[in-house]
Amino acid sequence: MEFSIKTGSPEKLKSGCAVVGVFQSSELSTSALAIDKAIRGALSEIVKRGDFEGKPGTTLLVSRVDGRVFERVLLVGLGPESEFREKAYREAVRSAVVALRQTGARDALLCLTETPIPGRSTAWAITQAVVIAMEALYRFDAMKSQPERTRMVLRSIALKVSARGNADAEAALAQGVATAHGMNLAKDLGNLPPNVCTPTYLAEQAELLARDHRMKLEVLEQKDMQRLGMGALLAVARGSRQPPKLIALSWQGAPRKTPPLVMIGKGITFDTGGISLKSAPEMDEMKFDMCGAASVLGTMKAVALMKLPLNVIGIVSAAENMPDGNATRPGDIVTTMSGQTVEILNTDAEGRLVLCDAMTWCERFEPALVIDIATLTGACVIALGHVASGLYANNDALARDVQQAGDAAWDRVWPMPLWDDYQEQLKSNFADFANIGGRPAGSVTAACYLARFAKKFAWAHLDIAGTAWKSGREKGATGRPVPLLTEFLAARARATHG
Ligand code: BES
Ligand code: MN
Ligand code: ZN
Repeated sequence: MEFSIKTGSPEKLKSGCAVVGVFQSSELSTSALAIDKAIRGALSEIVKRGDFEGKPGTTLLVSRVDGRVFERVLLVGLGPESEFREKAYREAVRSAVVALRQTGARDALLCLTETPIPGRSTAWAITQAVVIAMEALYRFDAMKSQPERTRMVLRSIALKVSARGNADAEAALAQGVATAHGMNLAKDLGNLPPNVCTPTYLAEQAELLARDHRMKLEVLEQKDMQRLGMGALLAVARGSRQPPKLIALSWQGAPRKTPPLVMIGKGITFDTGGISLKSAPEMDEMKFDMCGAASVLGTMKAVALMKLPLNVIGIVSAAENMPDGNATRPGDIVTTMSGQTVEILNTDAEGRLVLCDAMTWCERFEPALVIDIATLTGACVIALGHVASGLYANNDALARDVQQAGDAAWDRVWPMPLWDDYQEQLKSNFADFANIGGRPAGSVTAACYLARFAKKFAWAHLDIAGTAWKSGREKGATGRPVPLLTEFLAARARATHG
């Protein structure tokens, strides 16, 4: 799909389909009135006759319009004007694109971007529109023998903005396109079955990214991990036939000496729980346990597409958590790369084990900051559901910036405590500490475990267990938190380069 920005009066903007928002039980908006004029009052007549009420989620296609400017007009309900905020805008764009798919229009002019949203800029509306449009068009049929044939002819969407010569608009468009491509990569990797998407497969995908976007790639193999003393990461991979991989992809957009921003993704390509075996229901969804890793690769793609003037390193800690005769036992004690020893009381708390050694390893890059992204705990799903990801940080300024990026990208997080009081729960009688802290505050104690490996840098942790994928009929990866991470990095670039 091609996206562009259009300005100017509607009668000069030819299009296969103009998409116009209509508020519930109110007058036509200024942009709708301009379109109405260009098509000789067709819109006002439809509304006057009561043929379109403007309810949220509703659309009406008018496929014969006078005036020869637009071959079609698609009316989209915006709901009551007084309640028109981010959610209503997002839903209107989604409904519009779903309806557009089913028309014969080759191109469309989306005028919804002109509708003011309280507290949000036009740039915001543009980035969101692109991301939502791509989301509405996303299909995963790589594993179907007979992919459904879509008759969709839509090739390009122009976003209408009123102000001319707007550099912000173009930058917002570029960020939307980059974010959407990053999300699509993250979704594809997440949706692939665990017999295809193995640690080796993730390393191959990183190699393709490195080649396509001139990034540097380093992949540590099992023997490298042994040499470096990564006892925790190795303990997780022991029960699997799939060798673990520690993947580092580097984008150099700033001078070599500039400290890099580091992201680390949990890449468990399947989490059976190991010897602490999970129960059967919904275990298939543990193929999504590499969604943190997928979001890191997706964000690296977005960074490269935007050519951000930053140094960014994306690290993926990939392994498969399986039970077998060689698998780690509950009670085993391992030495992490940091030298700290861990009593593995539950082999199902494996995410923190693969992450902690990656965190120690990344010290060698002398990072400006580190953000890890992990489908870490079921407890986080209980705490925050499927709306917000959990945010933990050892640095208040970083926490604020991450939360702000989440708000701006509408990919939201909520701060959780990392207080020392919780560290008590990780006490072990036999090793320096244990890898679990019992049922209370399970998401917090997981983060507290990681904090013990983040002493040398500013660090934030995102628990995306509730937000990385959807279950049920709409089962599939969401691509979150690629929008947050992309916005976080883009904001850094704006702050340092105006
Ligand atoms: N990958 C899971 C977390 C998870 C579970 C995410 C369900 C989404 C849905 C993680 O490796 C895990 O198994 N965590 C355990 C930790 C426990 C053993 C301390 C959990 O949350 O039950
Ligand atoms: Mn687990
Ligand atoms: Zn897991």
